[in-house]
Amino acid sequence: MTYTEWANEELKKVREKIEWVAENNKHKIPYTTDEKGVYDNKADKEKDFRIDDGINWWTNGFWAGILWLLYNDTGEEKYRKDALIQEELLDKAFEMYYGLHHDVGFMFVPSAVADYRITGNRESRKRALHAANLLAGRFNEAGGFIRAWNDLEGCDTRGWAIIDCMFNLSLLYWAGEEIKDPRYVQIASSHAKTVAEAFVRKDGSVCHIVEFDPASGKRIKSYGGQGYDHGSAWTRGQGWALYGFTSAYIHSGEKVFLDTAEKIGDYCLSKIRDPYIIPVDFDQPEKPEYEDSCAACIIAGGLLELSGIVNDPDKKKRYAETAYRIIKVLAETRADYSRDCEAIVKNCSASYHGNTHHITMVYADYYYIEALYKLSGSKFRMW
Ligand code: GLY
Repeated sequence: MTYTEWANEELKKVREKIEWVAENNKHKIPYTTDEKGVYDNKADKEKDFRIDDGINWWTNGFWAGILWLLYNDTGEEKYRKDALIQEELLDKAFEMYYGLHHDVGFMFVPSAVADYRITGNRESRKRALHAANLLAGRFNEAGGFIRAWNDLEGCDTRGWAIIDCMFNLSLLYWAGEEIKDPRYVQIASSHAKTVAEAFVRKDGSVCHIVEFDPASGKRIKSYGGQGYDHGSAWTRGQGWALYGFTSAYIHSGEKVFLDTAEKIGDYCLSKIRDPYIIPVDFDQPEKPEYEDSCAACIIAGGLLELSGIVNDPDKKKRYAETAYRIIKVLAETRADYSRDCEAIVKNCSASYHGNTHHITMVYADYYYIEALYKLSGSKFRMW
């Protein structure tokens, strides 16, 4: 069986599952499932409508993203209508303003940008441009980086940038291409160049958080963040970097981004072993065997994109083959297509030192489905 045939078989199961999960979640913005397998709701005004969480939660675009992937594939109106409800719910985040952060890229690329790209909806274009301006406004010119978060309790984060932001850059590249204003592209590429210099280590691994002096822009230090330790390689961060630099190259054509993506990709390949299950951190101890299936999906997506653009036929094959094996083992051992749970992908971990491990996360489902579409030969590009 070819990759394409295999992925198409798997996508039939995905379509069957999302059909009933979408029916159950029309007016919710899901993040994770509870012990009964039911999704929570980040748009729940009674319980969870806070500045640092609720409607501003960084993963709030991914359920819309899943619906757009399905709409793009099937053309079924119900997915478009449900995705539009997500966008309208997210309008509240603009209204609140406080609490919005650099992750407006994660929130509005798979929702508003996707809608505009697929249907030409002018309201979505407006939302997406609004989000792009908020992101551009976080650029620190002295340091050439985009500020990540707003201040955390007891912690001044004015000089903090994080690796995850490589994915938010797609919003700026889209805006620059859409309104032909180079400012957005300049900011995105400046940030990516700073990350290539300040985050990427000699061996091709990347750190999670770097602090700069917000006034002079000088690099101060890095932090371990969601990984195992300071200096270790948090796998989801490797995925954000690998796929993020690949997208930055695709949008800008700047060779340094392709070289950086290959360096990170080669590092990941040197760490990934049979049976292709991805830990939370490539440098974590053998026990406990914490996994992050979400990191697995993001790394696989990045490798598939990279495989499509590198010239070396050997690398092309190795990147694609590794991605296929990662997704295949997830499909065989970590995917739940039953009615017991609304999410598909099991064994995700938000961070190494967090209280919970091996949970479901809506963005793992998103990147899993996206990777299956890539394997099936779809040319649709979200980022
Ligand atoms: N962007 C935050 C995370 O990957 O957990």
